This record gives sequence, structure tokens and C-alpha cells, in this order.
Amino acid sequence: MKILIVDDEEANVKLLSAILSREGYDTLKAYDGETALAIVEKQAVDLILLDVMMPGISGFEVAKRVKAIKQIPIIMVTGLMDRDKIIEGFKSGADEFLSKPYLYEELLLRIGNILKVKEYQNNLESVVEERTKNLSEALRKLNIVNKEVMHRLLVAAEYRDDNTGKHVTRVGKYSRIIAEGLNLDKEYIDLIEQTAPMHDIGKIGISDLILNKPGKFTDEEFEIMKTHVIIGTHIIEKGESLLIETAYDIILNHHEKWTGKGYPNNTKGKDIPLSGRIVALADVFDALTSARPYKPGFSWDKSISIIKDEREKHFDPEVVDVFMNNREKVKSIYDEYSDNTLVKTEAV
Ligand SMILES: [Fe+2]
Repeated sequence: MKILIVDDEEANVKLLSAILSREGYDTLKAYDGETALAIVEKQAVDLILLDVMMPGISGFEVAKRVKAIKQIPIIMVTGLMDRDKIIEGFKSGADEFLSKPYLYEELLLRIGNILKVKEYQNNLESVVEERTKNLSEALRKLNIVNKEVMHRLLVAAEYRDDNTGKHVTRVGKYSRIIAEGLNLDKEYIDLIEQTAPMHDIGKIGISDLILNKPGKFTDEEFEIMKTHVIIGTHIIEKGESLLIETAYDIILNHHEKWTGKGYPNNTKGKDIPLSGRIVALADVFDALTSARPYKPGFSWDKSISIIKDEREKHFDPEVVDVFMNNREKVKSIYDEYSDNTLVKTEAV
């Protein structure tokens, strides 16, 4: 244990240092407050024996400044023992007082007690630090597992529906561009990109005959197709992790419309979770520009103009504005992940 002795009287410091060294403590010496503060800043100190009356900055001031940067126990040594001074000392950060003249036995006992408490606190802190570290590591691993499970689900869905291979990646990336444009939290932006590809996971439960039908759906087929939303929510179920919650919101709401004329719940305007409003646009834009069994892909210009027309109808006007303002970024994803390129679907 290292004890810093601060006193302007050299003889006191030397005597104390000799006594403490004999008891097995390491000692550091300072003859004024400034030197004491410089030592505390640079070195590990376990306890300070601090004189109050010193030229330059007083012991009270030294105590205040020490406690502002480090939690080092301080025993104030002083001849002044009136009540006001003691209160001022405690307020400055002193843990103990010792009045001059004092018995060395008493000093050693007080030092021993304080260091015992400090050691206990240090142990407690290292236990807390260790457990916090373990907990963060466990959470990090859990997060990875969550993402992996999501990705596996996505791969399973892709086996059913070849068309959605790059579609899901593009929807994730378009959604990210919109979320960035809305200045959302970085964490939430990542979450949106990771979970947007899950929006059509429920298609896993729709018959191939309907899913890959080359022509237009009959009313009955369309009603069946619409159930992919509910099937998706059953697959995901509302979990407790933010990842699952966001995926759930996206799956449930990606076919809702700003006017309330979407499905499955006719949710309207800002009652639709923002993640759902973002993915709704990203999904439709990608569906417009892509070829499907029942239609060719529309041109870039035509698709953009359809999105514009649906401002405040199908889509949240703010989401449309952000999408339009970031058209260049959208275009680069559109080119890079085009169905005619060989880019593979990325992991979630
Ligand atoms: Fe869908």
C-alpha cells in the first residue's frame, strides 16, 4: 500500500515516512499542495495523510481537487480542531481527522482501518467490473445468435421464393438509406437494415401455385397472399429483444398504407410504426423496378414517379421526401444489386 504524506514541515514528513516504512508501507512525500496533486495525477496512491495549514493551496483545497479526480481516502492532520473547520474538512473530502499532537499508535490504527475498507471496496469494484464484462460478452454473443437465427429463417424463405433473393437485400439497403435520411439513431438504422429483409418471411406458408403464379391473382388468391403478413408474425412472435420486436413491426405493417387502406389492420398514418412505413416504401419501390412472374420490371423513372404519386396516399410523406432527396444513394444500390448482376444475397 502506498501512502502519500503531505506536509510543509520537512521534519514531520521524514519522521512519518520512517514510521510508516517500518510498518511495511511505501511512502511518497510532498511539501506543498501542488506537488501532492501532481503525484496523485501520475501515480497510484492508496491513502493521503494531508496537513491542512500549508503555504500555497490549503489542505482543504487539495482534498477537493483530489476527490474530483480519484477516490483516494484522505486523513487530514491538523492542529485546528474547531467544529467549523472539521465540517469544512469533511465537505472537502476528508475521510478522517487527526489532531496534532497525536499518538503514532492511533495514526497507524486509523490508517489500517481505512486501508481495510479501501481494499474491500477495490475487491468489490473488481468483482463488479468482471461481472459486467461477462454480462456484456454474453449479450454480444446472444445478439450474434439472434442475427444468425434471423438469417437462417431468411435463407429458408429464399428456398421457397427465388425471386426474393436480391430483393430482400435491396429492401434492407433502401430502408437503411431512408432511416439515415430521417436522422435516426445509428443503432436503430442498423436494426432496420438487419430486419427489413424479414418483411416477407410469411411467404414461406403460401402455396407455390399462388406464389409463383405468372398471371394476375384472383380475389380469392389475393386474400390468401395477404395472409403472408399474419403467417410472418406467427413465425416471429413478439419477442423481448429489440431485433425481434422490430422485425415483428416490419412484418405486420409493411402492407399498411398512410391512408389506412392497407392490410391487415387498416392502420393509418403515424399509428403505423416508423419501421413499417419505411419498409413499405422500400418494398414497393423494389417490387416496381423488379420483374415478377406476373409483370416486367418498370423503368427507374416510372417507378420513381409512381412513388411520388403515392405521397400521402400509400406512403408517409416524410418518408417519400427523404427517399427522393437520397435518390442518388438509392440509384447506386439499384445498380449494384440489380438482378442482372452476380452479387449474392448478403447475410442479415
Ligand atoms: Fe409482403
